Amino acid sequence: MVGAAYATEASGVAEHLLLSGENPSAAHGFFSLEAIAVHPSLRRSGLGTQLLASVAEHSRRDNAARLLLARIEKGDADLIEWYRARGFVICEPDQVLRIGPVQITPSEGHRDSWMDLGRLQA
Ligand SMILES: CC(C)(COP(=O)(O)OP(=O)(O)OC[C@H]1O[C@@H](n2cnc3c(N)ncnc32)[C@H](O)[C@@H]1OP(=O)(O)O)[C@@H](O)C(=O)NCCC(=O)NCCS
Repeated sequence: MVGAAYATEASGVAEHLLLSGENPSAAHGFFSLEAIAVHPSLRRSGLGTQLLASVAEHSRRDNAARLLLARIEKGDADLIEWYRARGFVICEPDQVLRIGPVQITPSEGHRDSWMDLGRLQA
């Protein structure tokens, strides 16, 4: 295997809305990039970029996702820049990500980030 990426519905967002008394259906359209990895011997040749583009397009087209969320290890500045250069908006450390009624509590050791999948339609 040369690499893999996996995104799924952001179930934590619906759970948060439910616990806050909000309508959990507001979570519809939030997808979460759970993992992306390329075999170490094949990195830096564009495969990761292709995998990310493919998972983003699949989330948007086949699952009607509007936003793709990702959690990036806080200490990995290169990886944070990798995501930023590919269209992700990166939250400040410990910043609570608020999108409409959705509020995502920061995870210790990670930076939250999100990509607007609507821009892919252009
Ligand atoms: C992140 C990852 C998927 C990128 O895959 P990739 O195939 O190397 O990425 P690409 O070839 O498309 O992009 C590489 C570009 O990003 C730059 N870059 C900067 N920091 C980087 C980093 N930490 N990892 C990979 N590329 C990085 C490279 O310089 C390169 O730019 P260039 O083409 O101008 O030289 C791969 O490094 C990986 O599997 N990392 C380990 C797993 C991981 O951390 N996953 C993310 C969290 S789940």
